[in-house]
Amino acid sequence: MAETSNSEELVLAFLAEAGDEFVSGEAISGKLGLTRAAVWKHVNALRAAGYRIEAVPARGYRLAEVPDRLTALELRPLLNTHDLGRELHCYEELGSTNDRAKELAEEGAEHGEIVVAEAQTAGRGRRGREWVSPPRKNLYFSVILRPELPPSRAAELTLVASIAVCDAARQAGVDAGIKWPNDLLASGKKLAGILTELATEPDRVHWVVVGVGVNVNSRPEDFPEELRDQATSLLIERRSPAPRALFAAACFTALEEWLDRHAEEGFGVIREAWRERSVTLGREVAVTTEGREIVGVAEDLDAHGALLVRGRAGLERILAGDVTLLRAR
Ligand code: BTN
Repeated sequence: MAETSNSEELVLAFLAEAGDEFVSGEAISGKLGLTRAAVWKHVNALRAAGYRIEAVPARGYRLAEVPDRLTALELRPLLNTHDLGRELHCYEELGSTNDRAKELAEEGAEHGEIVVAEAQTAGRGRRGREWVSPPRKNLYFSVILRPELPPSRAAELTLVASIAVCDAARQAGVDAGIKWPNDLLASGKKLAGILTELATEPDRVHWVVVGVGVNVNSRPEDFPEELRDQATSLLIERRSPAPRALFAAACFTALEEWLDRHAEEGFGVIREAWRERSVTLGREVAVTTEGREIVGVAEDLDAHGALLVRGRAGLERILAGDVTLLRAR
């Protein structure tokens, strides 16, 4: 793919910021220190790259449509974050964005760098499962974090991410909820998943990679047959496709906001937000953990992110496991 010039990105960012409004060529050239002819040249280059930019005499330019691609050119102008996405590593195809993010983290990547891929050939889910990652349909990204947290608290970040993705899905008009610990469900089916990996020393976290997969525009036939009754997407729920770049930007923005709140206010606020979005609490559940199954009622999320389930043997504290929702009480 052709490299875009910095000025081209600035013109795009300016148009993106104006939203549905027209901006005059004069305003763009004045603000960016470009000649009117240079603005025109960059507008045409953007059009050639797939952007639909309207030009109306006496009114100026308006960004009418962004191409459905996840490159830095689409994403950067949409981001208003301070750390997240300040470095974007965008690929047409990767084995797994988590694997690439781990490599980058080992090479010294900074807090907030994000790896995005249009497709994954070896997308991974929790517990060694596969994450189906067809090209140009969905969102697959991994964020590199270097939190000031003791290793014992690093798992909190997964819950932070689940809240952020839940909020982005709700903003996109989908009534998503969180199944413990961090599955996003809509209509009882899986909409998104999060895979967190980390490198620590006994008293220090080197890096955390939070990998997020969201089914954005997959149709039922895009899922393997055995997943069709368990998986959903924003498109299926909304009955209309979702613009992926906008949705990605909403995820990054929400993630940064919740990470900031976690860093400033601690886990209490996250616990409260998670509870509000939970579809697990109050439900009868079957939990597979450490090779055994516990059936009971999911009563609460404790102060360390563990799930409290009241089963036949009393209250059990689940630190890791797979939850199946049984009937509502
Ligand atoms: C799960 O629910 O099992 C977690 C799924 C996580 C999938 C994402 S897609 C982006 C990142 N790269 C991976 O290989 N996995 C995560």
